[in-house]
Amino acid sequence: MRIAITGSSGLIGAALTASLRADDHQVVRLVRRPPRAGAQSGEEVRWDPRAADAGDPALSGVDAVVHLAGAGVGDHRWTAAYKAEIRASRVLATRALASALTATHPAPKAFICASAIGWYGDTGGREVTESAPAGKAFLSRVVHDWEAAADPAREAGIRVAHLRSGLVLGAGGGVLGRLALPARLGVLPRFGDGHQVMSWISLTDEIRAIRFLLDGPGADERSGAYNLTAPNPVSNDELTAALHAAFKRPDFPWLRVPSFLLKLGLGEMSAELLTSARVLPARLLDAGFSFDHATVGAALTAELPR
Ligand SMILES: NC(=O)c1ccc[n+]([C@@H]2O[C@H](COP(=O)([O-])OP(=O)(O)OC[C@H]3O[C@@H](n4cnc5c(N)ncnc54)[C@H](OP(=O)(O)O)[C@@H]3O)[C@@H](O)[C@H]2O)c1
Repeated sequence: MRIAITGSSGLIGAALTASLRADDHQVVRLVRRPPRAGAQSGEEVRWDPRAADAGDPALSGVDAVVHLAGAGVGDHRWTAAYKAEIRASRVLATRALASALTATHPAPKAFICASAIGWYGDTGGREVTESAPAGKAFLSRVVHDWEAAADPAREAGIRVAHLRSGLVLGAGGGVLGRLALPARLGVLPRFGDGHQVMSWISLTDEIRAIRFLLDGPGADERSGAYNLTAPNPVSNDELTAALHAAFKRPDFPWLRVPSFLLKLGLGEMSAELLTSARVLPARLLDAGFSFDHATVGAALTAELPR
């Protein structure tokens, strides 16, 4: 297949690109910078997330588009300007890309879009599956509008799947990129009371699940929202203990940063650490997907660099 990917330089995009190339698929990286001098023709194509041209020639001859780009949710304090960037880089870019797909002939058959379990908001740790409604917090509203922005592609008959990913545990980025060093030093604190439920997935399973929805057997029948989360979410207490165990460090459950300090230091972004939602991968399991890493210990053993 010929597959175009946005956000291919990110944690998930880089791993997906490598996985697809290893299976001899042709990957077109849609990049925001000028294509590298050494890139082969058609391998890297410049795109502007705010103004994907209708019928962009980069998309003709492409079988599927995987859209992962977006300003990092945990990269900066959520000022009004950065919240606008988080939103625009997802909602406007997805709508522009979806419209561009509909104007491409022949149109790609599939549009696989990143999304997030932020859809559900804080459920107080209650179990939720894909049928649960969106929450009301900032991120829930962004995710709701991000998914809806793919409507033009859906209405044009293109298969659209939304990847409602949990915390992706992979070396070198995402949550592990932030927590691995303090855990390696044995000083990673609990956040708040540590009881909040964190729904996670190993990077390996994230890529396997994307491939399952993109080009796996029966993928043509799979559309709509899928939770990309392992079947065993953990509390922040359990994740912290598992990280210390993975680095063979003692775990001190009394080492905590109280919620009010997190809120003071990080502002609204503290929701990323304190939100509690037990998000289960009902649709992936129903479709016959099996996880390589069903427990957080197995995921950390596999993903952390030795
Ligand atoms: N990692 C997680 O735990 C997680 C969990 C849930 C959902 N997700 C979602 O999955 C997607 C991929 O995640 P990731 O962890 O691979 O993200 P990432 O490492 O932050 O990479 C995202 C990519 O998006 C592009 N990008 C950065 N800033 C941008 C901006 N302002 N406007 C447009 N594009 C921008 C960049 O790619 P280029 O420079 O190549 O354009 C960047 O490499 C994201 O949309 C993220 O919200 C991730």
